[in-house]
Amino acid sequence: MPVTFENNIFHIYNDNVSYCIKLSRYGDLLHMFFGGRIESAEIELIERERSSFSAYEGNDNSYSLDTLPQEYPVHGGQDMRTGAFALEKNGRKEACRLKFLSYNIMKGKPRLSGMPSVYAENDDEFTTLVISTRDSVSGIEVDLYYSISEKYPVICRHAEIRNSSDSGVYITAAASASMDLSAGKYKYMHLHGAWIREKHIEICDVHKGFQGIESRRGSSGSCENPFIALMEADAAEDSGRVWGLSLVYSADHRMSIETEQYGTVRVIAGINPADFRWYLERENTFVTPELVMVYSGNGLGEMSRTFHRLYRTRLCRGKYRDEERPILINNWEATYFDFNEEKLLDISRRGAELGMEMFVLDDGWFGARNDDRSSLGDWFVNEEKLPGGLKGLADKVKGQGMKFGLWFEPEMISPESRLFREHPDWALAIDNRERHEARNQYVIDMSRADVVDHLIDAVSKILRSADISYVKWDFNRNLTDVNSAVLPYERQGEVRHRFMLGSYRLMDTLTRMFPDVLFEGCSGGAGRNDPGILYYMPQNWGSDDTDAVERMYIQYGASMVYPASTVCAHVSTVPNHQVMRTTPMKLRGDVASAAVMGYELDLSKIGETEKKEIAEQIERYKRIRATVLFGDMYRLIDPFKERSASWMYVSEDKAKAVVFYFNKLALPNSELRRVRLKGLDCTKRYSVNGNVYTGRTLMEFGLYLPEYEKDFESVVWEIEAL
Ligand code: DGJ
Repeated sequence: MPVTFENNIFHIYNDNVSYCIKLSRYGDLLHMFFGGRIESAEIELIERERSSFSAYEGNDNSYSLDTLPQEYPVHGGQDMRTGAFALEKNGRKEACRLKFLSYNIMKGKPRLSGMPSVYAENDDEFTTLVISTRDSVSGIEVDLYYSISEKYPVICRHAEIRNSSDSGVYITAAASASMDLSAGKYKYMHLHGAWIREKHIEICDVHKGFQGIESRRGSSGSCENPFIALMEADAAEDSGRVWGLSLVYSADHRMSIETEQYGTVRVIAGINPADFRWYLERENTFVTPELVMVYSGNGLGEMSRTFHRLYRTRLCRGKYRDEERPILINNWEATYFDFNEEKLLDISRRGAELGMEMFVLDDGWFGARNDDRSSLGDWFVNEEKLPGGLKGLADKVKGQGMKFGLWFEPEMISPESRLFREHPDWALAIDNRERHEARNQYVIDMSRADVVDHLIDAVSKILRSADISYVKWDFNRNLTDVNSAVLPYERQGEVRHRFMLGSYRLMDTLTRMFPDVLFEGCSGGAGRNDPGILYYMPQNWGSDDTDAVERMYIQYGASMVYPASTVCAHVSTVPNHQVMRTTPMKLRGDVASAAVMGYELDLSKIGETEKKEIAEQIERYKRIRATVLFGDMYRLIDPFKERSASWMYVSEDKAKAVVFYFNKLALPNSELRRVRLKGLDCTKRYSVNGNVYTGRTLMEFGLYLPEYEKDFESVVWEIEAL
């Protein structure tokens, strides 16, 4: 049984990790430990008097909530540090004290109502501990959920807040989890960025005081992915203790890190409380998003591989979860809005001839959308551009031997659209204030059930109207003017979260209605590229930046949390449209084939040599695709530290591997370098591009990198056990 309760200690464990919580003599839940597997009976939490200004318990000055590590600290009480939970009742901030009520241990892992989460396929895969707590004065009850995986060093946490009091209350903070790490020297990694520069790795020292990451954009955002890795100061890629925290949520998030007066490091993760105020009616429950906590005693690499396996197999769902993804050609960078059926069919036919498997029609097929100034919301086909409608086009594409995919942006509305003229109150707007456009569009009020119902109807009609195998689901701006016409003034603090719940309902309904359609998340590139979306859509557009050099950084950064099967990468034209850089077709193809590969360029404008290269890239990708998408990933050279990048994938049975090496710029007279491989079987003999080596030699001695490194040079080694 991987959860026990003995001597007032809850021990949640599997073969590799332990999580220990102490039920204190005053009924508080104290955090004792999260790390490698231990014997819980052998550790103790020292409760002792500290010379501080903090309040203590009655006459017991050895016990102060301000200095003890806690499981779910609250604002406004005796703990002066940041709280995970805050409440207002009768117009007053409440100094809650959540005390232990009861506990329950169950096999399996319950799903979160209306929200994405890691799931169990059968009850043996997880065990869940639910600890119920109660504030006796306000009558609020908080259930803390801890689900431990049988197989992985993973604990999933969330909280459920129940109003069992006699009146409504406002929740003004409701984090998913809090964790107090014992005093020590720590760093933290986060994935920082911007549009077309997503997921850049930054590692910072955890300093005294307050720091952290957040999004206030209404989506998880390009600027900060909802992830941090706390690392002991000496932790690195393959060594040291690391705690990876990844929030399964796609809207405003916050992960705060606070080093308090005695050096304890408190990490709180969840919905960003900045613009959050939730009215919880009597007898109602508020469910927080889920925080996935991964522990690795062997550095970042092991942490990432745990996230990859878990997210690939127990967060992503549906038919495509375990299927190789089609190599697509998308018309966006080839034509933007300027296309007709003939042009699209030409691109698709040429793609088919080169071995591609699906044609995707991007933005501009609906309403009167000939540029980005109109028609979002008018989800009916533009027959001037496509006289045979979508069905006509899809059938012709199919006739070329290709599948057909289509772009949508359901959660947006153009001021210049039929939908907006009919329903101006469907766009977010603050009463008496001007609405603000971004990319010439407004945001639909997804917190409204009637709007979500309308979108289910509108999108499903289109998906039924033709043979559509794939949907690219875009979301091209951040939220402003966040106010709903159907909620009273005092409940507007709910709109951001209600918006997300509405979007999740739309995603859930459509993905269930169309189980054979492959859905890809997108948000002006990677503006909503997070675990929440992966629950509905098993892949995400990696970035609007298709330059191969920029992609090295983005894909390397993404690999901290996200498996290659979820990261889409396209080969585009040169000079590149985002950074104007010219890189060889080989580098572009090699970088894209280290993820879910596709193409996005006008195939009528390339020469015979490039066509041949593309055909060879596709042939090779079909050979390595399963290893890339479903293998274990090992990072070898970090582009954020060096002038090149390298990583590899190894199939689960270690019979196949593929190594990618990408150079940025040449260094004249550079040193002769080798790259040591990882994750192979020492005893196996492997063929590597025609030569034979043992796994041991490849991992100890390695492979030589090109002797005369050139600008933008790349090598892909295909490795197979003999
Ligand atoms: C942003 C996406 O990231 C692009 O790939 C493209 O689909 C455009 N939107 C279309 O408007």
